[in-house]
Amino acid sequence: MSNIVLVGAQWGDEGKGKVIDYLTDKVDVVVRSQGGNNAGHTVVVGEKKYILRLIPSGILRKGKLCVIGNGVVIDPISLWEEISELATQGVKINSKNLLVSECAHLVFPFHKMIDEQREVSKGAQKIGTTKRGIGPAYGDKIARVGIRLGDLLQRELFTEKLQSRVKEVNVFLRVFGQKPVRIKPLLDQYLEVGEKIRPLITNTVLTVHKAMVAGKEILFEGAQGTFLDVDHGTYPYVTSSNTTAGAACTGSGVPPNRIDLVIGAMKAYTTRVGEGPFPTQDDSVSNLMHSMGREYGAVTGRARRCGWFDAVATRYAQILNGIDELAVTNLDGLDSLGRLKICVAYKLDGKRVEVPPTSVSQLERCVPVYQEVDGWQKSTSDARTFDELPQNARNYLHTICNLTGAKLKIVGVGQSRAQTIAL
Ligand code: GDP
Ligand code: IMO
Ligand code: MG
Repeated sequence: MSNIVLVGAQWGDEGKGKVIDYLTDKVDVVVRSQGGNNAGHTVVVGEKKYILRLIPSGILRKGKLCVIGNGVVIDPISLWEEISELATQGVKINSKNLLVSECAHLVFPFHKMIDEQREVSKGAQKIGTTKRGIGPAYGDKIARVGIRLGDLLQRELFTEKLQSRVKEVNVFLRVFGQKPVRIKPLLDQYLEVGEKIRPLITNTVLTVHKAMVAGKEILFEGAQGTFLDVDHGTYPYVTSSNTTAGAACTGSGVPPNRIDLVIGAMKAYTTRVGEGPFPTQDDSVSNLMHSMGREYGAVTGRARRCGWFDAVATRYAQILNGIDELAVTNLDGLDSLGRLKICVAYKLDGKRVEVPPTSVSQLERCVPVYQEVDGWQKSTSDARTFDELPQNARNYLHTICNLTGAKLKIVGVGQSRAQTIAL
């Protein structure tokens, strides 16, 4: 029996959704603990493609319970849209397969306005956020002026809290020359959607605790990736939550001694969407991926920046998250290459460094030190066992996992559920 945390070991979009869908087969409960609808987790089952934003990717498997924990920030309009979209795709949501924490904080339209406005004001220094209001919503939470899902269910209390919040927000918006928020339509809209999702809202700490006591297995679905962590990532080019393994506990109320295993998801190369340093970024890799129609953001459609595998980054991710096992995705993306580069160290101002510097201005000056290896120049997408992979692909996988410092457990060779190799 084990409770597993799955984290992204790079800059997000590592293929966590696909790996979660795969692992869900063997667990009972899937929990999201942080982030919001800035996440976009793609799962392809047969001909159908699903993009999960707030709802755990485990939702596609029948008979599993999904939980959105206290650490997530929730735009209830977007949550309702996602529920409705899934219904049209044949996935029915009710309190039997989805529960949401009453302690999760709400994202409001004014958070999105502030998010956008801050990006505009930053000009060239912008973060490249998803403009979903994530930063401002977490800001309110930490400043202790946030409003939670549980508040939404108490009409009078919610009205009071929103009125008071909007008063302050309007001062801020005026400074930016923006129109003030009109309270009435906002109140009506939120109270209405609150009624729709009321049956799902509960104290999920107890839900998860009960499941554990009953011997059920829990899978914690990380969102974003290690280097987008607000403490450990490439600050300020990060998201506004902790994306590393510890967040699975704080964002769900599960104690650390109940976590048995940490799995890191990483692509066989590296991608990043939005601004911020990315030492191994390489146009040749970006052009290759984009020419195949891959590496466009699941949420915003933005082209992702692509580059070679960065073992300096993933080794640090192993340290930060305690990654035991690795799921390497998108191996097939490299199928056509004759030679591959793997970044094994950086040179910073002429000196070799083995861990990423914590300051972005230093990271921006880092030049990758590459080890070159032969490619396999054969399609891997039909392989279903490790032995069916070309020898050079197997060598490459072992090299990147050894450099990262964890055991290879899962390999992805295509988008669909079936294109997964377990070791
Ligand atoms: P997430 O945010 O970590 O869940 O990742 P995204 O869904 O945003 O982006 C990963 C992309 O890679 C999606 O388009 C997935 O369908 C796709 N993907 C995941 N694993 C594989 C794989 O092994 N091969 C291929 N070709 N695509 C994959
Ligand atoms: P998943 O879960 C990749 C990035 C944004 C931006 C920065 C801050 O799909 O891996 P935010 O809107 O969070 O304030 O944006 O973080 N970002 C992601 N990049 N995958 C994600 O999620 C991301 N969520 C946020 O592009 O650079
Ligand atoms: Mg994504």
